[in-house]
Amino acid sequence: MKNIAILGFGVVGSGIARVLEQNAAEIARAVGDEVSIRYILDLREFPDSPYADRVIHTIDPILADPDVACVCETMGGSHPALEYSLACMEAGKSVVSSNKEVVANFGDLLLRKAKEHGVSYLFEASVGGGIPLIRPFLTSLVCDRVTEIAGIVNGTTNYILTKMRDEGRDFGDVLAEAQRLGYAERDPSADIDGIDAKRKIIILTALASGILPEDGDVYAGSIRNITPGDIEAARALGGVLRLIAQTKILPDGRVAACVTPMIVMAPHPLANVDGVYNAVSVTSPVTGDILYYGRGAGSLPTAGAVISDVTAVLSGAAKAELAPVFEKKSGAVIPFGEQSFPFYIRTQGSEAEIRELLETVTDTVIPLGGGAFETGEMTAAEAERVLPEAVKIPILR
Ligand code: HSE
Repeated sequence: MKNIAILGFGVVGSGIARVLEQNAAEIARAVGDEVSIRYILDLREFPDSPYADRVIHTIDPILADPDVACVCETMGGSHPALEYSLACMEAGKSVVSSNKEVVANFGDLLLRKAKEHGVSYLFEASVGGGIPLIRPFLTSLVCDRVTEIAGIVNGTTNYILTKMRDEGRDFGDVLAEAQRLGYAERDPSADIDGIDAKRKIIILTALASGILPEDGDVYAGSIRNITPGDIEAARALGGVLRLIAQTKILPDGRVAACVTPMIVMAPHPLANVDGVYNAVSVTSPVTGDILYYGRGAGSLPTAGAVISDVTAVLSGAAKAELAPVFEKKSGAVIPFGEQSFPFYIRTQGSEAEIRELLETVTDTVIPLGGGAFETGEMTAAEAERVLPEAVKIPILR
């Protein structure tokens, strides 16, 4: 019997218990032994749960128990998740996490601590929920140099944008449904304002480049001000409006990472990703384009990803895997204003004058009628400078 502990018995933590019961035989086969939950650390009591007798309120019994080799951190938030994870690794326990906030903010420190103590720090569930996405960066793709990643990595906003488009439903109403379904963050502004997606693109950027961008260096755009008019404009242009997390890794090692609503044109594979589904496209010179697709949020898919890390630790496979090294490096992240995109622009005024203004910063300007234009590439700062009042949405082709 192998014992684990769970920190945080919320949507993901309780999902781990369910998946361990439901798939006990498959998990035992992968580990070579049965897996049992010895402790559940939470502030709350769960008197009606079959696990009520395992609930504890301090980390100490876990740290002191030599029979717990693997701890699942599904608390969310940076603190005390960081301190507990560090303490577990100092006590010789591997930690597996679904907590994108702590990985994005402190992944460098956590991975160094794991190395120092000869344990693993794994975080397959932190990006893309149930999609096997993190491990391929450390296995199948190690021979390649990733140049670009573009993804839909927030299930809640994708669900909202899909329902607004398909059912003409109100933003608040669809958000409440996403919360009921367990997709949204505790504070759903983390979803809506691009913060959750920013944490995820920070992690993917670090996996691809080794550079862990600082939170404040990555722009996060919101879907809060998206109107039915914008959704319709995307459709008229032959695309779909989505919250996109993107990173480009330049040959000089700098990275251009951002999260912003974009119009994804129909031929792009991300244009067909609807509802709570996530998809991440990864481009590299040897492998070409790869698309990862699956359920990006929800209790069971995310819990399954945590358990994949648990099985890697308990079977010994994690020891044989390459551990990533994340490094924070000042000046390595290109500011959003300096990043270039083709744009959809909508504004008021004379078509000839707007065209003339746009032609000072880009080589292609196509009038679409009704004060709308499709442009060639220009930087976000140039677009803002020439037309500060206009609706400006980057286009992904
Ligand atoms: N709130 C997140 C989402 C949960 O909607 O994608 C999964 O990380």
